[in-house]
Amino acid sequence: MIIENEEQLTQAVLEETKRTKDPRAKEILQALIKHLHAFAREVRLTEKEFNQAIDYVTALGQKTTESHNETRLIAGSLGLSQLVCLMNNKTPSANLLGPFWRANAPHLENGASLIRSPTPGVPLFFHGRVVDKHGTPIAGAEVDVWHASTVGLYENQDPTQAEWNLRGSFTTDKDGKFSFRSVKPAGYPVPAGGPTEALLTAQGRHPMRPAHLHALVYKPGFKTIASQVYSHDDELLETDAQFGVTKALIGHYVLHENEPAPAADVKGPWWSLDYTFVLEPGESFLPKPPVSAKAAEKARSMTEKV
Ligand SMILES: [Fe+2]
Repeated sequence: MIIENEEQLTQAVLEETKRTKDPRAKEILQALIKHLHAFAREVRLTEKEFNQAIDYVTALGQKTTESHNETRLIAGSLGLSQLVCLMNNKTPSANLLGPFWRANAPHLENGASLIRSPTPGVPLFFHGRVVDKHGTPIAGAEVDVWHASTVGLYENQDPTQAEWNLRGSFTTDKDGKFSFRSVKPAGYPVPAGGPTEALLTAQGRHPMRPAHLHALVYKPGFKTIASQVYSHDDELLETDAQFGVTKALIGHYVLHENEPAPAADVKGPWWSLDYTFVLEPGESFLPKPPVSAKAAEKARSMTEKV
């Protein structure tokens, strides 16, 4: 179609989608074009702003490395990740995968520690359960867990932590239970230095995520879920930079100040947390890991934590 004017342009672009063989791809492309053009019209996008937007999207790819995924990060800060999660999951246990899951974490026995290098923090003893929607225990589920250190860095971002520190994979027992020892996590800022930081700054938003534990629960016959359990006492639950917090995912930690801990080497206060993950029937799959390696020593700086 020869283009005559602005009004007719959108129709010309839509005409070119008609040969798309995959019906779902065609549906998505047509909606994308309609909404993208409507968006530009609504804000009367200037040429200067369009060029800024091109640079902005380009930077998402340029900032992404094998130890950092800027595109997934900004999807979270725009609320798109949480929207897709809520639209596609019935179980309240499902949540964002986040940008820091690594595949093939070392398998650990129930009760084992996630700590592989000196990690300050108050000891945590976590007891998890995996059940179906009727509350029936699911035995033999694989549960990957991972969390940031108390200085707010995952091991793949932090050359001072041993590889796989604060990560592990567990198998639920006949009662659907799994357990591990670690330290109570702290909140942390999302990585700076890229388009996501620019977005947050422009909006006057802080870059923090409230403290949380990540889990990925996998069992054939059930839909694989990523989950995050948030600390009930974190002041930033309502302003998570990634919009991940939902009521069902707030974990109620219990502080033990004058009780013997489950491990003899713990002399002071310790935390415990019980949490139950609910799976729904569906397809089990392993997601593509957003990151695949630990950051090299040279790659880290205070402004770019990747
Ligand atoms: Fe996280």
